[in-house]
Amino acid sequence: MTQDELKALVGQAALKYVVHGEIVGVGTGSTVNKFIDALATMKDQIKGAVSSSEASTVRLKALGIPVFDSNEVESLSVYIDGADEIDHQGHMVKGGGAALTREKIVAAQSQKFVCIADESKLVDALGAFPLPVEVIPMATARVMRQFVAMGGTAAVRQKDGQPLVTDNGQHIVDVKGLKITDPVAFENTVSQWPGVVTVGVFALQKAQVCLLGTSTGVKTLS
Ligand code: 5RP
Repeated sequence: MTQDELKALVGQAALKYVVHGEIVGVGTGSTVNKFIDALATMKDQIKGAVSSSEASTVRLKALGIPVFDSNEVESLSVYIDGADEIDHQGHMVKGGGAALTREKIVAAQSQKFVCIADESKLVDALGAFPLPVEVIPMATARVMRQFVAMGGTAAVRQKDGQPLVTDNGQHIVDVKGLKITDPVAFENTVSQWPGVVTVGVFALQKAQVCLLGTSTGVKTLS
């Protein structure tokens, strides 16, 4: 099976976690796009979605799924999102699609995080994928120096020759070469650095369930 087919498989499999009559939290990325397409087949059985990015909002609305502002919804039963890396404890690295801040917000208001990913995303320890960190531009150089001091190599993510601007008007720093042996401690530490909006380690809002697309079908890790 191709990676695209594996993504479609887990996107479809995630439907069983959607609670009928409720609003579902929806992440961002190519795997989530497959989930959104699948969700459209049951759109009459849900109230709508809270979306984690402008891109997902556009796709949801195009398929006729109502999108609610996160402030309108106190709590969500479930949040479905992809990951760039996930370990066996459900800790993740996210933000490859630059939507990490809104993803963490929607994850925080959800009772259950269901991660959907193809098997290439499962790792023994986080850190091989360059860690995305959303940063207020004024603090970029300082935050990058702090990562260098930790042994990493940091670069500002570019788009069309300019720093990429997130949905929140900020920049993304991608950090290579980090060893994230204690994801909770790492997230707690970096989140407190002045100018860091969101670090792409999701350990405090980790996945309770991971639907992993493999060549032999969907494996459920929980
Ligand atoms: C976006 C994300 C995505 O969930 C992550 O990058 C995985 O994306 P894909 O499903 O395209 O591999 O965190 O900010």
